[in-house]
Amino acid sequence: MGLIQEISGPLSQQLSQLSIVSQVGVVVAGFLLVSVFFNVLQQILFKNPNEPPLVFHWFPVIGSTITYGMDPPRFFKENRDKYGDIFTFVLLGKKTTVYVGPAGNDFILNGKLKDVNAEEIYTVLTTPVFGKDVVYDCPNSKLMEQKKFMKIALTTQAFQSYVPIIADEVTNYFKRSPDFKSKSGVVNISKSMAQITIFTASHSLQGAEIRNKFDESLADLYHDLDMGFSPVNFMLHWAPLPWNKRRDHAQQTIAKIYMDTIKERRAAGKSDSQDIMWHLMNSTYKNGVKIPDHEVAHMMIALLMAGQHSSSSTSSWIMLRLASRPDIHEALYREQVENLGADLPPLTYEDLSKLPLNQAIIKETLRLHAPIHSILRAVKSPMPVPGTKYVVPTSHNLLAAAGVSATDPSYFPEPDLWEPTRWNKDSPLAPRLVSSVEDEEKIDYGYGLVSKGANSPYLPFGAGRHRCIGEQFANVQLQTIVAMVVRQFKLRNVDGSNKVIGTDYASLFSRPLEPANIFWEKREQ
Ligand code: HEM
Repeated sequence: MGLIQEISGPLSQQLSQLSIVSQVGVVVAGFLLVSVFFNVLQQILFKNPNEPPLVFHWFPVIGSTITYGMDPPRFFKENRDKYGDIFTFVLLGKKTTVYVGPAGNDFILNGKLKDVNAEEIYTVLTTPVFGKDVVYDCPNSKLMEQKKFMKIALTTQAFQSYVPIIADEVTNYFKRSPDFKSKSGVVNISKSMAQITIFTASHSLQGAEIRNKFDESLADLYHDLDMGFSPVNFMLHWAPLPWNKRRDHAQQTIAKIYMDTIKERRAAGKSDSQDIMWHLMNSTYKNGVKIPDHEVAHMMIALLMAGQHSSSSTSSWIMLRLASRPDIHEALYREQVENLGADLPPLTYEDLSKLPLNQAIIKETLRLHAPIHSILRAVKSPMPVPGTKYVVPTSHNLLAAAGVSATDPSYFPEPDLWEPTRWNKDSPLAPRLVSSVEDEEKIDYGYGLVSKGANSPYLPFGAGRHRCIGEQFANVQLQTIVAMVVRQFKLRNVDGSNKVIGTDYASLFSRPLEPANIFWEKREQ
């Protein structure tokens, strides 16, 4: 009897707990069903004819976040086919209007300052990583001045000094790296390219002192800082989570390393280097204020981070593409032998312009693998869309996806084919561009003249006031890296096929899925 009581006591407790759980389950399921019902009803009954069509979705708040996040380019193309060039979808509860094609790129990227705003969206992610008072933690007019300072530093003379630095870094990397010790092997190329990018960028843009620190403390700190850029931080940037604590510690430590280096340079009195740090240390804002040291330090972090992801994913894609097309890889080698001499003398900045195929490799890879698939802007005043009845309201964000026109068959014949020779004017696959870059309208947003890109279906470096100032540097860096790899190695896919690995969209940048293994073999010297 006693035993039965002992058993039935906890059993009845368990049963009543179970019934509470199932009741809660029923309530939650009911709530979900009701919210799905009203969400669907709202989409069917309350269509606003003056707003772009809304992508159908079952769940409120989640909206199309998952289908978009899994493969943004596919999401854009499928919905363009369904709704046209302009449509709205729900991204984490926010109505986000996508406008693809050259007109859409122009509408968003060349939008007026009173209409569109970048910093409101990006600051939560970037300010804890870069630091205060720079880029998106200051008024746009200040960012334009900061971009001008950075751009002015990137002169032809600077590039002339960078090419030998980058070439040497690449050569030394392959000599040092345990992954390239033997005559041939298989390597996860994304890992190598990430390292080569940081060594080459830090040495050329930031000087030897900073570069040397990447062999010691900086690499780990940089990694911790980088974790601040995970997309989840759009929502959890403030949370006292382990990776945010490491991000904040890394930001403070790296900023201090830069500030100490600035002080040392000042104390030494002069520098003959062509790096950006030296230039920023000696620049003055229009209002007469010299750039404070902490801003120089934060701009240095911003430059390194801005360039790192885009250039390292691009160079990885290039190597993967070359491994899938050994014929192009060998054509690149022949191009150097024919145009620079069979002894392949040390590479110079001037040499790069003698290697058109080497240049086209970068262009074509960025056409198919632009690292930034989505550019977001907050809408600040209602924006009528020319030629339509739509007005984009201030409750929406805008999203530009220049990659869509870069893979549109109306501009690029056989758009999915990676074919660098299409950039030869007489190629049957040559792009059908609306106008040439030279004919484009030029505009100065405060950081020098840039082409508006209003008619261009190919904008891997963006357009408008937020356009990339690192384009030329990235080209010099990437062309040098490719030329040096081609000199030293033959590449092919591990299975000898011409397949190329898929894209990882889990981070903010479109990079190759890992491990991105390729087979390499050293050339006979
Ligand atoms: C902006 C692409 C390399 C520094 C941008 C934007 C794009 C872009 C699309 C516009 C973002 C927007 O409108 O919101 C690329 C690609 C690169 C590359 C494809 C390499 C293949 C670099 C490098 C640097 C750099 C190497 C630094 C040396 C910047 C800066 C901005 C920018 C400072 C301005 C951000 C703004 O005004 O809001 N880049 N970038 N980029 N990029 Fe790059």
